[in-house]
Amino acid sequence: MKVIKETHVSEIVRKRAKDVDMPTSLLSISDLSIASIGYLMELSSFFDSNGARMPLSLWNSARVVANLFYENSTRTRLSFEMAAHRLGGSATYIDSTTSSAKKGESIKDTAVTLTQLGYSILVVRHPNEGVPTQLSRWVPIPVINAGDGCHEHPTQALSDLYVLQRRLGGLEKLIGLKVGIVGDIAHSRVARSLSKVLVLGGAQPIFIGPSELLPSSPGALGAEHSLDLDEVIGDLDVIYLLRIQAERMKTLPISMASYVNRYQLDSVRLSKLKGEALVMHPGPMNRGTEIAGVVANSTQVSAIGEQVSSGVCVRMAVLHALSQEIEGQSALQ
Ligand code: CP
Repeated sequence: MKVIKETHVSEIVRKRAKDVDMPTSLLSISDLSIASIGYLMELSSFFDSNGARMPLSLWNSARVVANLFYENSTRTRLSFEMAAHRLGGSATYIDSTTSSAKKGESIKDTAVTLTQLGYSILVVRHPNEGVPTQLSRWVPIPVINAGDGCHEHPTQALSDLYVLQRRLGGLEKLIGLKVGIVGDIAHSRVARSLSKVLVLGGAQPIFIGPSELLPSSPGALGAEHSLDLDEVIGDLDVIYLLRIQAERMKTLPISMASYVNRYQLDSVRLSKLKGEALVMHPGPMNRGTEIAGVVANSTQVSAIGEQVSSGVCVRMAVLHALSQEIEGQSALQ
């Protein structure tokens, strides 16, 4: 079996050292320049080609990622686990419902405990905005935001970008791309991170949804907006569907029947898309709400499966780049 050593990625890493300023933690897409995003895409592509079916030995097996999750997750948590394993390390899931958080331990004390136990990287999901950023000030290891409230979900946006640039044939092909992001934008950390990464790449995000679910100033994120999906659907190169995040609202501001009628991607709306347009969704999907079951099952929406599978190679790239960064800093001290 082929074993890939550090030397195989050294070319990409050397390029980073020369051209790219990587942050020590990944808390927001705003932490990244277009050069560092390009580097992460290149590293993701390397892992995509080489990391899925053969063991890498880039990491010392003692390197362990702590997955500290205060909200439910399937894709993000498991892809970080898979990514750590494929790099040669491992990952531990710390479930806030069974950890000492239940006995009243603060998240700061939990995070500090994890660093004292020897974990190398902290991956955090939390319902409150800013928690990963605050933790990054308290612990000496890299922190990755795996979703904080309505704020950001940067590794989801990087996975989506990876799928887009691979489908289009390069990052530069994003320029002028019209990406309709449909649904509950106001509560969506995915929409916030995705629109930032799209704008950095020269694409045009368009927020589409009822006024009750649009952010107060879409322009602040570089996005256009529309209340009428049927009016703009034929112009879109990508339609990116979002789940209604009922867990972030006390009461839904519009009726579900009205939402489904105006915004669900059903087979009639699917037929109005340009032939080559991509359908994307970060998951989990609510079939029958933002996407009709028959559309979710159709071959035309294959990008949704790619968004999930690409999550592993992209998170390998993020984990590896941040651990290289912290090692580089230690070497300089
Ligand atoms: N897209 C996403 O974050 O999915 P999970 O909630 O399953 O991690």
